[in-house]
Amino acid sequence: MDGAPAIETSPAVLILLGPPGAGKGTQARLLEEEFGLVQLSTGDLLRAAVAAGTDAGKAAKAVMEAGDLVSDDIVIAILRDRLGDADVQRGVILDGFPRTTVQASALDALLLETGQKINAAISLEVDDGEMVTRISGRYTCGGCGEGYHDTFKQPETAGTCDKCGAADMKRRADDKAETVGQRLQAYHAQTAPLISYYDGKGVLQSVDAMGNIHNIAAALAQIVRDATRPN
Ligand code: AP5
Repeated sequence: MDGAPAIETSPAVLILLGPPGAGKGTQARLLEEEFGLVQLSTGDLLRAAVAAGTDAGKAAKAVMEAGDLVSDDIVIAILRDRLGDADVQRGVILDGFPRTTVQASALDALLLETGQKINAAISLEVDDGEMVTRISGRYTCGGCGEGYHDTFKQPETAGTCDKCGAADMKRRADDKAETVGQRLQAYHAQTAPLISYYDGKGVLQSVDAMGNIHNIAAALAQIVRDATRPN
């Protein structure tokens, strides 16, 4: 974030939509670095709640392992809490939220309370087959959360994070082949309708997310610059 160009309207609200493995987390982290925004991943928040053994985490654990969506009440409460933290006041990239029309309406209501608006909802478009390849090769640094892939994004030294130097790579419990199919089904049934929801609000941007990570990042950065420019 040091040296990051300032977002011209503040605080910005950007949404990354896309199926599991579309690259939401990868791209959110790059946008965070470039623009000094804060990535809010409801998947990460839920995994932290599971690890901490909170009531929400206990309720979410089995649902996540089955590849289904956690209840709207739990997810909305977790997101509302996180949006109240001081560090997000500069602007946020919502990664994996909203995922249902109920969550989208709840976000609209929250933003109305704070006088904010959605600058852009960016849909990352990938084929279902590509998503399975990406998820089955994914691993993450346990120290800082940086994402890697067996084929597409390897650290310079095998097993050691380029970013923080930790040697603690982890694979997610829900990245098993049988769970991935269910996650994809949940996406198509419950989340894909949000593409037309945000199109109707005039904030939808679609990006072909089948290419190289850095080319996709450049396309997203341009969208963010355009969507956060004062009118
Ligand atoms: P969540 O953690 O949000 O997972 P997801 O949506 O399934 O998305 P992923 O994290 O799997 O993929 P991604 O798009 O971030 O891809 P990534 O950048 O890692 O949710 C997990 C679970 O929590 C849900 O199933 C649900 O149970 C629950 N949950 C979360 N939010 C919820 C909500 N709002 N409501 C209800 N339940 C909720 O990339 C994947 C891999 O591909 C990486 O290895 C990466 O290096 C590689 N890669 C990325 N881009 C490229 C590229 N362009 N080319 C090649 N490789 C690439």
